[in-house]
Amino acid sequence: MSAGLPTAVDDAAEVFDRLRRHLSPKLALTGSFAGRGAVEVSGEGCRVTLSDGRSVLDFGSYAVTLLGHRHPDVVAAVHRQLDTMPTSTRSLANPVAARAAACLAGYLGDVLPKVYFGLNGADVVEVAVKLARVASGRSRVIAVSGGFHGKSLGALALTHSPLYRVGLRGCAVDVVHVDPQDPDAVLRELGAGDVAALVFEPVQGENGAVALPLGVLRRWSEDAARHGAFVIADEIQCGLRRCGERSVALAEGLPVDAVLLGKPLGGGVVPLSALVCSERLYAPLDADPFLHSATFGGHPLSCAALPAALGAIEELAGQGGELSDQLGAGLERIRQRHPGVVSELRGRGLLRGIDFATPRAAGSVVLELATAGLLVSPCLGRPTTVRLLPPLVATAADVTEAVEILDGAIAVAERSAGGSLPGRNGHAHT
Ligand SMILES: Cc1ncc(COP(=O)(O)O)c(C=O)c1O
Repeated sequence: MSAGLPTAVDDAAEVFDRLRRHLSPKLALTGSFAGRGAVEVSGEGCRVTLSDGRSVLDFGSYAVTLLGHRHPDVVAAVHRQLDTMPTSTRSLANPVAARAAACLAGYLGDVLPKVYFGLNGADVVEVAVKLARVASGRSRVIAVSGGFHGKSLGALALTHSPLYRVGLRGCAVDVVHVDPQDPDAVLRELGAGDVAALVFEPVQGENGAVALPLGVLRRWSEDAARHGAFVIADEIQCGLRRCGERSVALAEGLPVDAVLLGKPLGGGVVPLSALVCSERLYAPLDADPFLHSATFGGHPLSCAALPAALGAIEELAGQGGELSDQLGAGLERIRQRHPGVVSELRGRGLLRGIDFATPRAAGSVVLELATAGLLVSPCLGRPTTVRLLPPLVATAADVTEAVEILDGAIAVAERSAGGSLPGRNGHAHT
């Protein structure tokens, strides 16, 4: 160690100690459970190597690693940019951001021509809502029960779970949440007036891989569009072929003014998010680009990754369909083998949720998975669900391995609970 700086390779105990002291004790605790005392060291494809030498299968990473870790095309594109000009002056025009914007608009079929780049998903949720309010002169937003849109103050107002609002009195945006089983809900809210936008995730990720009923989404979107409210599809988690399509909303022909993308948009290598939208929604930014800007918006390193990432996603899209079918069949077998414990399977494409009867049952399975070497993502809004997010680069053998590990982990969790892992209705399953 020199000048008090950490050395490049730290031992795990030191990492957890620093995490506890300088970041969060609870993050240290959950990280320690997930790695069984080891920390992440390197990643390649769908495997992550830990500090104790183990290699684990990554079907988690909160939906970022759709292309796995360090996809070679993306890494090469980012390296080239690193060696040329990683940072923009922000006063001279930047060709990398311009190319990425054109590439992204073209990828979505050139129906939504305008782009704003952020780094996190919440960045573009916020800009979409801000533009909708300025462009419409209205202030209310309709979002959906169970939806997740981020945790910064504006995005948080759209996120349904009260968990992340503890200690806050009120939010930055006036939002009403509607029930996805109620086709009339949006029309009712529009009737009450002052609605700037309708925002929904076509497939809710953090809520446990819940695909919203398409008929309801169509009716809501058409009602909103007819009343001059902007329709915004948050596909930060479900878009970019995670659920099969480049954009779920556009593929279904919903009349959307904007699609929000993030997570794997930087190829799993760099942070990048985007609002891709109509001229009408973007009009305030056309009039004044400084109405909303951020120092690192359109960052060259992130934008350099985008064309490579989209190219790789398209190359692997067919394989994604096969993996999804194989995974679906495997999960169905698991459900049949553990009928008392697995209460429901949900999801679409490479975004799958396995619902357990209680949070305790889901937690036991996640712990067993950590020991057996399969990384999954819990759901921020639904503690009974274990979410699987396999990357497009996974092979059929990887999916077989994941299904076997999962099956074994559920069996071990059942046995170690002495046959008393709570089953359906919360009763002990024997
Ligand atoms: C649908 C959706 N929107 C927005 C967000 C917020 O993204 P970020 O955490 O990058 O701000 C997420 C994150 O999980 C998400 O799933």
